[in-house]
Order: sequence, then C-alpha cells, then structure tokens
Amino acid sequence: MRISLFLVALLSSLQLSLGSKGKDDGGKDDHGHDGHDNDPHACILIAKGHGADDSPRFLSAVQACSEVIIPASTTLNISTRLNMTGLHNKHIVSKSLPFFPVKYLTAPFRTCKGPSVLILIFRIGVETVSPSRSKPKSPSGYSAVKTLFWMEAELLTARARLDWWDTFATNSSLLRPITMTIFQATNVVVKNIKMINSPEWFNLVNEGKNVTYDNININAVSTSTHGPSNTDGWDVYRSDQVTIKNSIINNGDDCVSFKPNSTNILVSNLNCNGSHGISVGSLGQFAGMFDIVENVTSTNVKMSNAQNGARIKAWAGPNVGSGIVKNVTFENFVEFNVDNPVVIDQCYMTNATACAQFPSNTFIQDVVFTNISGTSSGSQVASLACSPDGRCSDIDVENFNLSAPTGPPTFVCQNVNLTGNAADLFPTCTVT
Ligand SMILES: *[C@@H]1O[C@H](CO)[C@@H](O)[C@H](O)[C@H]1NC(C)=O
Ligand SMILES: *[C@@H]1O[C@H](CO)[C@@H](O)[C@H](O)[C@H]1NC(C)=O
Ligand SMILES: *[C@@H]1O[C@H](CO)[C@@H](O)[C@H](O)[C@H]1NC(C)=O
Ligand SMILES: *[C@@H]1O[C@H](CO)[C@@H](O)[C@H](O)[C@H]1NC(C)=O
Ligand SMILES: *[C@@H]1O[C@H](CO)[C@@H](O)[C@H](O)[C@H]1NC(C)=O
Ligand SMILES: *[C@@H]1O[C@H](CO)[C@@H](O)[C@H](O)[C@H]1NC(C)=O
Ligand SMILES: *[C@@H]1O[C@H](CO)[C@@H](O)[C@H](O)[C@H]1NC(C)=O
Ligand SMILES: *[C@@H]1O[C@H](CO)[C@@H](O)[C@H](O)[C@H]1NC(C)=O
Ligand SMILES: *[C@@H]1O[C@H](CO)[C@@H](O)[C@H](O)[C@H]1NC(C)=O
Ligand SMILES: *[C@@H]1O[C@H](CO)[C@@H](O)[C@H](O)[C@H]1NC(C)=O
Ligand SMILES: *[C@@H]1O[C@H](CO)[C@@H](O)[C@H](O)[C@H]1NC(C)=O
Ligand SMILES: *[C@@H]1O[C@H](CO)[C@@H](O)[C@H](O)[C@H]1NC(C)=O
Repeated sequence: MRISLFLVALLSSLQLSLGSKGKDDGGKDDHGHDGHDNDPHACILIAKGHGADDSPRFLSAVQACSEVIIPASTTLNISTRLNMTGLHNKHIVSKSLPFFPVKYLTAPFRTCKGPSVLILIFRIGVETVSPSRSKPKSPSGYSAVKTLFWMEAELLTARARLDWWDTFATNSSLLRPITMTIFQATNVVVKNIKMINSPEWFNLVNEGKNVTYDNININAVSTSTHGPSNTDGWDVYRSDQVTIKNSIINNGDDCVSFKPNSTNILVSNLNCNGSHGISVGSLGQFAGMFDIVENVTSTNVKMSNAQNGARIKAWAGPNVGSGIVKNVTFENFVEFNVDNPVVIDQCYMTNATACAQFPSNTFIQDVVFTNISGTSSGSQVASLACSPDGRCSDIDVENFNLSAPTGPPTFVCQNVNLTGNAADLFPTCTVT
C-alpha cells in the first residue's frame, strides 16, 4: 500500500501489544494450566464486569506479576489505551476469545484530533539503557535500544468495528489504528494469536530487533459494501532480524511488506489469501531518504486470489529518494489466481517518460525468484520492469512453472539482464 511513510512514523509511536516471559517453553501450549497456580508470580485476571473498564487492572496486573492469565471464561473490557513501556520479561496468556474487545477503536477515537490519541493501544515494554558511546548504530540506521523483552502471547482477538473501512471510504484522511505494533523492542516473540478486522494494518514492526511471529491467524472480512482497506498483515520498518512464520492471512492489502530499512528477514510457511502479496517496498519515495532492504528470504508461501505474488517496487522520477534492495530471495511460492505472480517495478508510480529521464535511484541487486509455480488470473505471469541505465543487476529466475488460466502465459521484462533457467521464458527485454 502506498501510504506516506511519515504517517507510518507517526503512527508508530502509538502502539498495541502485550505479553512476555523469560523462559523458552519450546512452543508448548501449556500455559495457564494448574501448575501456574503455585507460581507466586502468576496472577489470574478476571473481568470486573458491570460495564467496568478493565484496562487499569490489566496494567496493574502486568506490572505486578511475571505472568498474567486470563481464563477462557472471562472477557476483558479494554476501553482505554495502555502504555506498556518499560515492562520486560512478562508473559500474558489469554485463554479467552475475544481478548481485547478493542473498545478504544470505536467512536470516541474516530473523531479525535490526531494520532497521539488515536493509536496507542499498548506500547510494548522497552528497557532503554543510557546511551553508550561505544554502542554502534544498527545496520537499519537507528540507535539500538537494549531491551530484555520477551513477549509471548496467545489468542488475541482485536475486534474492530467494520465501520472504520466504511468511514475511510468516504474520508481518506481518516487516521486509523494499527492493531499491533512492536516498537523499539528486541527479543520479542508473538505467537498463537488470532486477529480479526483490523481498522488499518494488522502488524507493524518498527525499530525492532529479533522479533518473531509464529502461528498468527489474520482475518479481515467486510460485511459491508466497502472492503477491508489497507489491512496489511505485516509491515516491517527500520527493523532487523524479523521472522514471520507458520501463519494464515486473509486480508485486503499486502500480506507482508518490507518497508525501508528491513534487514535480515525470514518469512516462511505463510498461506496468504486475497492479499496484495509479499512485497518489498515501495522504496525510494521520499527525497533525501536512503532506504535499505537487505537479506530477505520469503519461502514456502501459498498465495491465492491476490493482486501480486512476489513483488519489489521502487520509485523513480523527479524529487524522490534513493536506496538499495540487495540479496532478496523469493522461493517455493505456489500461486493461485494471482494478477501479477512475479513483479519488479522500478518505475513505481512513475510514467515512462519520467522514468527514462529520472531512473530510480533505488538500485536492485542479487534477487532470486526460484521455484515459483501456479496460475495467474490473466495472461501475464511475470513482469520484471527495471529503470533504464542498469539499475537492476543479478536478477536470477529459476524453476518457474507458471501458467495462465487460458492460453500461453506471457512474460515481460524491461532494462534488465536475467540469469537462471527461467530466463528463456522471457522475450528480449525492452530497453527504454
Ligand atoms: C467497557 O467499559 C466502558 C468504560 O467503563 C463502558 O462504557 C462500557 O460499557 C464497557 N463495555 C462493556 C461491554 O462492559
Ligand atoms: C509511556 O510510559 C513511559 C514510561 O512511564 C513514559 O515515558 C511515556 O511518556 C509514556 N507514553 C505515553 C504516550 O503516555
Ligand atoms: C536506513 O539506513 C541508512 C543507513 O544506516 C540510513 O542512512 C537511512 O537514513 C535509513 N533510512 C530510514 C528510512 O530509516
Ligand atoms: C475526515 O477525517 C479527518 C481526520 O480524522 C477529520 O479531521 C475530518 O473532519 C473528516 N472529514 C469528514 C468530512 O468527516
Ligand atoms: C532472539 O529472541 C529470542 C526470544 O526472546 C531469544 O531466545 C534469542 O536468544 C534472541 N536471539 C538473539 C540473537 O538475541
Ligand atoms: C480468499 O479470498 C477470496 C477473495 O478475496 C475470498 O472470496 C475467499 O472467501 C477467501 N477465502 C478464505 C478461506 O478466506
Ligand atoms: C542473503 O540473505 C540471507 C538471509 O535471507 C543470508 O542467509 C545470506 O547470508 C545472505 N547472503 C549474502 C551474500 O549476504
Ligand atoms: C547480510 O548478510 C550478510 C551475510 O550474513 C552480512 O554480512 C551482512 O552484514 C548482512 N547485511 C545487513 C544489512 O545486515
Ligand atoms: C518447490 O516449492 C513447493 C511449494 O512450496 C515445494 O513443495 C517443493 O518442495 C519445492 N521444490 C523444491 C525443489 O524445493
Ligand atoms: C509524467 O510524469 C511527469 C513528472 O511527474 C509529469 O510532469 C508529466 O506530465 C507526466 N507525463 C504524462 C504523459 O503523464
Ligand atoms: C507444473 O505445474 C503443473 C500444474 O500447474 C503440474 O501438473 C506440472 O507437473 C508442473 N511441472 C513441473 C515440472 O513441476
Ligand atoms: C546487460 O548486459 C550487457 C552486457 O554485459 C550490458 O552491456 C548491458 O548494459 C546490460 N544491461 C542492463 C540493463 O543491465
């Protein structure tokens, strides 16, 4: 999706999230069992009921207890935003659905003045140490903050009101909440969470390091005439070492998107439906900014009924930014009914004349598309369109088995030399 990244930056200071625990349980689903009753640091939190807002009690419990268990029999009413800054080694387990009614996403916030009130749901705990002279900047370009946060959560349902999408359809300047943001946190695990009907993006990893999502079930379904809009599954921004795996996504925008300064990312075993695909970018949009996406692997992805499959997009034209896309691999994709199964667009949002005059300054290097199979929705199955002047290099295409629903599939390319055993599928690339 192409919302302003400045907006992203604004939104990101206001967050939702939860949980954590200092020990590795190896992924066993054993939380909240009887053993915890003997743990003096484990607390059980039950909704107060009678229309009370449970937010303050929830926050107190998380502050006081290393583990907070919400039994299946209770539903917390989280009606005010929670600021969880500073917490670490916490673990929140919810056995109830829905966990967060997301009361705060409804009317009173919809009309509020700006993002400072709108978005903060939780801000994940961050332990900031005093700046050290010796501390190097992270490769992603922000000063790393040291955190001891280890988050593990189970069963979160964000029940947003569908009228966010309807309202946005008539007012595109409406600021909408991102359901969960991990902001400036390190060593975070989020797993076994179900999220539904996010007003805007479902997940944003902003300035994070070593953040893992495992077994997340995302579903955005509209019951009105306006579809789920901008409901990206994940956006990664200025973050390093992010893993997103074993998840099911049904949404209406990017399944996963790597925004500026996403490095060392692994996406694996995703089943995406109805999305805009796994997407690098868009990058290089803002003048004066340098965007990096490096060392990204997306593997074992099933992509159905989508606008795109595997995609890289970078701006060209006057007054845009610059950057580098380097060492990006898309492998083992199975696609079904996808409009554009394989895409590089290095003249993103730029007409041909402007792209020829001002080729993209976001260079694309060492990209592999391998073992990509399935069907498109139309005749075109791959479009690798680079800016003029050799801005793409080492683009490798291997083991394609893509077909069109009827007739022969078409492959197109522009301003690029392709290597690999699928290169012969492409005609001589257009030179502009
Ligand atoms: C949740 O709390 C708010 C604020 O106290 C209250 O207005 C609302 O009725 C509560 N909702 C439920 C379902 O109890
Ligand atoms: C959140 O809490 C931290 C630590 O108490 C504080 O520094 C920060 O200003 C709070 N943020 C908001 C938005 O309230
Ligand atoms: C990305 O990282 C580079 C190098 O550290 C830095 O110059 C640039 O400002 C960063 N860009 C963003 C969007 O954070
Ligand atoms: C659109 O949303 C913005 C931001 O919430 C608000 O300021 C503006 O009044 C809304 N416009 C209309 C026509 O509702
Ligand atoms: C990454 O986070 C996980 C979970 O908190 C932790 O077990 C692991 O040691 C961390 N890895 C590094 C390199 O810090
Ligand atoms: C997948 O997406 C299509 C198109 O958006 C939708 O019609 C279908 O219901 C979705 N399937 C599932 C299992 O969500
Ligand atoms: C490319 O990125 C992958 C991770 O996606 C990493 O394992 C590999 O070492 C990187 N290769 C180079 C040459 O940087
Ligand atoms: C990419 O991976 C290579 C090989 O592991 C590493 O040397 C390089 O620093 C990584 N790049 C970034 C930006 O982390
Ligand atoms: C190609 O991808 C499919 C789907 O992910 C996978 O089942 C198959 O093992 C892959 N083939 C190779 C040679 O890796
Ligand atoms: C192409 O884009 C340039 C720069 O944005 C603009 O000035 C020009 O009018 C556009 N040309 C066409 C044919 O749309
Ligand atoms: C290519 O995909 C078709 C189904 O779409 C399958 O029947 C065929 O075996 C595949 N070919 C290879 C070489 O994997
Ligand atoms: C393709 O390779 C040829 C020969 O090395 C080179 O002259 C040409 O500039 C390359 N084209 C692009 C678009 O990189």
